[in-house]
Amino acid sequence: MLAATDLAARLAAAETRYVEANPESRRLHEARRRFMPGGNTRTTIHQPPFPLTIVRGDGAVLTDADGHEYVDFLGEYTAGLYGHSHPVIADAIREALTDGIVLGAPNRHEIALAEAICARIPSIDLVRFCNSGTEANLLALALARAVTGRSGVLVFAGAYHGGILLFGHGVSPLNPPFDWIVGKYNDTAGAARLIAEHAHELAAVIVEPLQGAAGVIPADPDFLRTLRDATAAHGVLLVLDEVMTARLARGGMQELLGIEPDLTTIAKFVGGGLSFGAFGGDAELMGRFDPSRPDALQHGGTFNNEVLTMAAGAAGLTRVLTDREIERLNGLGDGLRDRLNGFAAERELDFCATGYGSLVGLHFTRGPVRSERDVPDSPELRGLLHLHMLERGFSYGRRGFVALSLPLDEVDIDGFADATEEFLEAVGGA
Ligand SMILES: Cc1ncc(COP(=O)(O)O)c(C=O)c1O
Repeated sequence: MLAATDLAARLAAAETRYVEANPESRRLHEARRRFMPGGNTRTTIHQPPFPLTIVRGDGAVLTDADGHEYVDFLGEYTAGLYGHSHPVIADAIREALTDGIVLGAPNRHEIALAEAICARIPSIDLVRFCNSGTEANLLALALARAVTGRSGVLVFAGAYHGGILLFGHGVSPLNPPFDWIVGKYNDTAGAARLIAEHAHELAAVIVEPLQGAAGVIPADPDFLRTLRDATAAHGVLLVLDEVMTARLARGGMQELLGIEPDLTTIAKFVGGGLSFGAFGGDAELMGRFDPSRPDALQHGGTFNNEVLTMAAGAAGLTRVLTDREIERLNGLGDGLRDRLNGFAAERELDFCATGYGSLVGLHFTRGPVRSERDVPDSPELRGLLHLHMLERGFSYGRRGFVALSLPLDEVDIDGFADATEEFLEAVGGA
């Protein structure tokens, strides 16, 4: 790879080109800065020197404020699975809109969405809705704490379970003050030991079957099976965070792995592209929320059954996301990952693509990447690759995050792979 000085010079030149090419995005960023800290209300989408402002999305094509078009490989961090303008989703929203919003009562659309979720994920007998994946995880953990009477939660380093459930660099000071115990991801023996040692104080173990934000790192099936067995043996609840991974199979990654968690959390695409979260599990556990019970747990939320989300989510699950489409998209992701890994291996480059199916991580290391500790920081290389890809008309998450969406096809994948290989060729071998 290039020497550090060359890298810094190339990055500075690429940033200069970026600034020159995007005057309107820069102006809008400055306008936002007057009213929002750093011009930002969502840390994930900030990037130096300023992010592009996107003004339009159509299929898998994004248009920025300066009129540039990009083929979208970010897919709104998995929430954009259906693309930006799927006609079935758009029609469902329009149709729901004609009957009015903020109805303040149960509505007809929530039945179809709840039924579709329960039908797809067998471990979910009953489901409750909320407004985000963060909220879904908070509620699942709160439920676990309420039913067990214990306060501890085992999480894994690198995990991202939400805006105030971050474990990328230790325990974030913004996280709720639960008694967190932080284990190592994919350390099977270590996790079994922690569960046995802390069983008396643990309400739940929460885990992503594939760590998304940490670098698109799949769990070893054995690691997850051990978590299942150890939690069951000690009366601790297993919460599977499928917010990102539910898209990988009809019944989520738990179906692929044959693991039945006590509680599952989902969000993102399941709301059809609108704000959404949900948590569910077996009838006895979730039945604690049944308001007709004298001992019911209360869970309010003005927008829990917001009509447009309910209609969009139900349309997506029942009419768009077929098994065949899931398979096709996973195939495209596998093809991209295999091609880039083959290219890097042949040239002995410090680069690899991780992930599963339609979720792909790009990293400047030969790997293997089994936990966040195996992911090198490489901010210059990541920045340079990102700017290179934008110049070639491809957008994705600068940290190396790719989530494919349904409007993409082989031609798009080839284009993305060609542009990535062009970059890797330019920065050179080891
Ligand atoms: C695995 C995982 N859990 C939870 C969340 C939080 O979801 P939301 O952004 O809807 O709060 C995310 C978001 O990226 C996620 O990746």
